[in-house]
Amino acid sequence: MINYHEPVYRPPAEANSIIIQVTLGCSYNKCSFCSMYETKTFQTRSLDEIFKDIDSMSIYSDERRVFLADGDALACDTSFLVEVLTYLKKSFPKLQRVSSYASPYNLLQKSQEELNLLREHGLSLVYYGIESGNHELLKYVNKPMNPDKMAEGLNKATKANMKISATLILGLGGKNLSKQHIEDSAKLINKCEHINYLSTLQLGLTSTKEDNFFKRFEKKNSEFIFCDDKDMLEEQRRLISLINPKKPIVFRSNHASNALPLKGTLPRNKEDLIGTLSLAIEDSSMLRPMFLRGF
Ligand SMILES: C[S@@+](CC[C@H](N)C(=O)[O-])C[C@H]1O[C@@H](n2cnc3c(N)ncnc32)[C@H](O)[C@@H]1O
Ligand code: SF4
Repeated sequence: MINYHEPVYRPPAEANSIIIQVTLGCSYNKCSFCSMYETKTFQTRSLDEIFKDIDSMSIYSDERRVFLADGDALACDTSFLVEVLTYLKKSFPKLQRVSSYASPYNLLQKSQEELNLLREHGLSLVYYGIESGNHELLKYVNKPMNPDKMAEGLNKATKANMKISATLILGLGGKNLSKQHIEDSAKLINKCEHINYLSTLQLGLTSTKEDNFFKRFEKKNSEFIFCDDKDMLEEQRRLISLINPKKPIVFRSNHASNALPLKGTLPRNKEDLIGTLSLAIEDSSMLRPMFLRGF
């Protein structure tokens, strides 16, 4: 069995996948809201260590899904990842899906040819944190990606025939930036060629992050006022009403941070999702109790 370097995070949809740590931590690690890898110094593990971990799991040779951890395995050199993917295929002959987290920086840094090559070797799904489509807000939270550049990176992954699972954070701009956060997020989603899965999470700050998070808003002369559950559900309802994708998107709010778990396909289930949200906005007994929420 593998001795993981804790903490290990994986998306909810990878609950039954084999997890292989290719890197430790996050190559960027500076987003003001994110404490996931704050205890780790980023490093790429050696091929030797990674192959040993794969060997120790090869008793499960019928496994079909592998998730490459930690925070952005796509930060590794393409040739290195190709070696890992090749070894995985040899060890798990029935392998159908290899996935990893990929930050906006990772996708921009890889050329179209590199993404094509990774896809050919089996990397078929990337989990990507959009967080917001509003450029100003992204600067406030120190993930200062230009939304047009994000669309460029995401479209490159689609062109390589990779699937994309993207996340947005409800409440990220607080009450004051809520309107532009949601409107620009919908615009970015609508601009992308194909986001296969879209999930929302609700903002939750750890005590280690709060001070710096608030200070960055104050520096821009903006006060951060937390959104409550009702505000976030209203954001979600507005978001869903504004999403008109080029190709169908499976929409989910199944992450444990959410007040209301939702699942549907956009645009087909738009009215149903909006209806459920409208009911929940008026009836808080429909919401997940606090003790069942988390990260
Ligand atoms: C490992 S990252 C995703 C992949 C990649 N590192 C990136 O940033 O695109 C995990 C995701 O968890 C979410 N997340 C992290 N901290 C959060 C917080 N404090 N509140 C809500 N969501 C958070 C963000 O959507 C973030 O993109
Ligand atoms: S959100 Fe992603 S890129 Fe930002 S610090 Fe967290 S893991 Fe790293």
